[in-house]
Amino acid sequence: MIIAFANVLCVCGGIFYWSRYEKGDAVMFRTLKEDLDAVMDRDPAARSRWEVFFLYSGFKAVRSHRKANWCYRHNLKFLARWISQRSRRKTGIEIHPAAQIGKGLFIDHGMGVVIGETTRIGDNCTLYQNVTLGGTGKDHGKRHPTLGNNVLVGAGAKVLGPFTVGDNARVAAGAVVLDAVPDDATAVGVPARVVKIGNKRVEHPSQQLDQIHVADPVSMELCRLRGELERLQRRVEDLEGTEHLPVGK
Ligand SMILES: CC(C)(COP(=O)(O)OP(=O)(O)OC[C@H]1O[C@@H](n2cnc3c(N)ncnc32)[C@H](O)[C@@H]1OP(=O)(O)O)[C@@H](O)C(=O)NCCC(=O)NCCS
Repeated sequence: MIIAFANVLCVCGGIFYWSRYEKGDAVMFRTLKEDLDAVMDRDPAARSRWEVFFLYSGFKAVRSHRKANWCYRHNLKFLARWISQRSRRKTGIEIHPAAQIGKGLFIDHGMGVVIGETTRIGDNCTLYQNVTLGGTGKDHGKRHPTLGNNVLVGAGAKVLGPFTVGDNARVAAGAVVLDAVPDDATAVGVPARVVKIGNKRVEHPSQQLDQIHVADPVSMELCRLRGELERLQRRVEDLEGTEHLPVGK
């Protein structure tokens, strides 16, 4: 009985899909190869496409999202949410059905990843576990980040706000990014700052400050007092008409 019902549901789903098929929907299927290749290329532990297809939670979450996103774009919002929440229960990865994700996204380990509604992710990006692509709670409309192509976001990093993380950028594990990150940059820390663009280190004023050869404020004050004493002594000598002697003599 249950199997018959499931079959009817599948057939109805198929008919519905083809009745609403539009140019561009094939992307959902075309990205399958790219999504598989992304894992094979970037995870040294992945041994075969079969293993990735059946066992990788990040891959499953991305595939479920492609279905949920199709439903969302065809005004099947409840079904879209249902697919996305089911995928969250199974994989620990929550992706809002409206999020726009390019081809070749690799979510490694996955657990705890959250991708918000207005997020846009370019092609061939990599996210590790516990990454949040979210909002700060202060913005309306577009309130989640846009990632360019080939962006890497390290484990536990939080990227919060409607700004862009440029192509080939790297967000370090544990960073909290609250501002735009340029192309080819590496952002680290809380709040994150850009420490490298390409292979060039970015110097920050706090790094250029000489923390060792700083002036001693006590000797500076003594120096100032000595000068003041000499000035006063000269003034007294002028008034008394006596010879000037340096302080301490
Ligand atoms: C940021 C990262 C991608 C390296 O990028 P990179 O462009 O090669 O940067 P570098 O390694 O040259 O490091 C640049 C600076 O950032 C610092 N840095 C690197 N990662 C950092 C981090 N997570 N937190 C704080 N600082 C970090 C380095 O110490 C270095 O500082 P220094 O110049 O003062 O020595 C890498 O360190 C990282 O965090 N990868 C995430 C990997 C991950 O999440 N793995 C989980 C596997 S389960």
